[in-house]
Amino acid sequence: MKNMKIGTKRLVLRRIEKKDIPDLIQNINNLKVSRYLLAVPYPYTLKDAKWWIAHCKETEKEKPRKSYSFNIESKAIKKIVGGIGLIHVDSSQGIAEVGYWLGEKYWRQGIMSEALNAILNLAFEKLKLRRINLLAFKENKASNALARNFGFKYEGRKRKAAIAKSTGKIYDENIYGLLKEEWKRKQGKRRS
Ligand SMILES: CC(C)(COP(=O)(O)OP(=O)(O)OC[C@H]1O[C@@H](n2cnc3c(N)ncnc32)[C@H](O)[C@@H]1OP(=O)(O)O)[C@@H](O)C(=O)NCCC(=O)NCCS
Repeated sequence: MKNMKIGTKRLVLRRIEKKDIPDLIQNINNLKVSRYLLAVPYPYTLKDAKWWIAHCKETEKEKPRKSYSFNIESKAIKKIVGGIGLIHVDSSQGIAEVGYWLGEKYWRQGIMSEALNAILNLAFEKLKLRRINLLAFKENKASNALARNFGFKYEGRKRKAAIAKSTGKIYDENIYGLLKEEWKRKQGKRRS
């Protein structure tokens, strides 16, 4: 499963390619997007984009894999609009952490919900994981709301645990966890 692709109604989750660099930079070179992300620099340069592409390729070679990084392509405009992935994948423990970002123009259209649903499906059904972790800076209204909306349980706060690379600001991190059985239950409700 090296070059994995996942299709949803409006999106294709796929590997990032060189041709995506202008769209990647356009969307992620925005402090409203990167201020709540741990490791995304601002300004975001061509060098950063090239590093990211090389890094994603490297992670595909890992055995066992420790991360799965996808870019989110909108089928309608055939452009990269964001990213989502699993990191700290530990199959022996049955756990991983999910992370995501979306270009500002595309917020509040249910895009990340659609992408997150696909990634949780990968995590729980294909990779057979038991629990997904999610960390969101305390001030990040959108991500905290999205997590709760998806049934992630708030499990506490790590104080002054993270520095956003883009601003150098220190944040408290909210800890969330989602168990496979909770996700299944929620899916059942959505369908009924
Ligand atoms: C967090 C983020 C990915 C949300 O993406 P999105 O596609 O806009 O989210 P959705 O449209 O799927 O939202 C689903 C639900 O989450 C909640 N939500 C999303 N954005 C919200 C906001 N700005 N304020 C309050 N609630 C919000 C709502 O309940 C929303 O449902 P609704 O629109 O029907 O009310 C996006 O805001 C983003 O990229 N932010 C910057 C990067 C970032 O913070 N990444 C996460 C780091 S932990």
